[in-house]
Amino acid sequence: MKRTISLLVVLCLASAAFAKKGDWVTIKNGDLWYDTEGKVVQAHGAGFLQVGDTWYMIGEDRSRSWNPDVNMYSSKDLQTWKFEGKIIENGVTHSDLGRSRFIERPKLMYCKKTKQFVVWCHWEGSNYGASEAGVFYADKVTGPYHFKAGERPLGIKSRDCNVFVDDDGTAWFISTIEENQHLGFFRLADDYLSAVECTQLFKRQAREAPAIVKVDGVYYMLSSACTGWEPNQCKLSWTRNLTEGWSQLENIGDRIAYDTQAASILTIKGTKTTTYLYVGDRWMDPDLPRSKTIIFPISFKDGKCDFTYREQFEINFKTGEWREKKM
Ligand code: GAL
Repeated sequence: MKRTISLLVVLCLASAAFAKKGDWVTIKNGDLWYDTEGKVVQAHGAGFLQVGDTWYMIGEDRSRSWNPDVNMYSSKDLQTWKFEGKIIENGVTHSDLGRSRFIERPKLMYCKKTKQFVVWCHWEGSNYGASEAGVFYADKVTGPYHFKAGERPLGIKSRDCNVFVDDDGTAWFISTIEENQHLGFFRLADDYLSAVECTQLFKRQAREAPAIVKVDGVYYMLSSACTGWEPNQCKLSWTRNLTEGWSQLENIGDRIAYDTQAASILTIKGTKTTTYLYVGDRWMDPDLPRSKTIIFPISFKDGKCDFTYREQFEINFKTGEWREKKM
């Protein structure tokens, strides 16, 4: 009897240790990602949506460099990626796509009011002259996605973009407007399918690749300058009200944002803490199809951001904690 009990204790301890170890995932930067079928993950300028414990990632499929379709992948640990399909496809979702129009930076939201999944993206033509935004919607996260609009939101020329959904469900489309001069903060309608108002901010500061996160009631935005595929200095600004009071842009990280450009900021809310993950594109590494997606933990406090690159780190999606992992 005694032996059975001690055996049980040993087994319990062993499984607890295993479970503990199993909750930590190592994320390593610099390499291509492969999906569960062994194919290169193609989801650049990525947008994310968490549904339960699953992260859905959508992004540009740059395998042919130009005219990207939009791929969707799912993962519970940002490591194991299952290909869910092409949610927006050239010539299929819209006849102009792949011909006179192409997509960049697709971003995904869930609209609680309509129970629909909504994608906003940069909807562009040759030489970036069209300067439009594309809108798609679906009843299920994996699609099928239907075309809603491809136009200049409220008639305003719009390029690099992102979305932000506030705690009260108000959704925003933030984009580089009027020939890369300012940032437009477009408040979206209740169904997220159109823009109803635009506030022009960061006037003549030529910011792009905006990514916004809300931390303890404060909005923080990371953004880059407009240098095409070349990386440049990432800058931080913060405010307590999305449409006014943004602080002056401040340099963070190194001169070239560790060779990345912001795509998204993820909020990993766990039982113990919340970790924020920066997701950036390492474009043209060495060419467009082999551009890398880079992820590392960042933190925000009192209007500051600790934006320190980590070649690799460990994260626990249950507790929300992260820790260093030396090479
Ligand atoms: C970047 C932009 C990318 C893409 C690229 C094309 O500035 O962030 O999304 O448009 O230019 O050169």
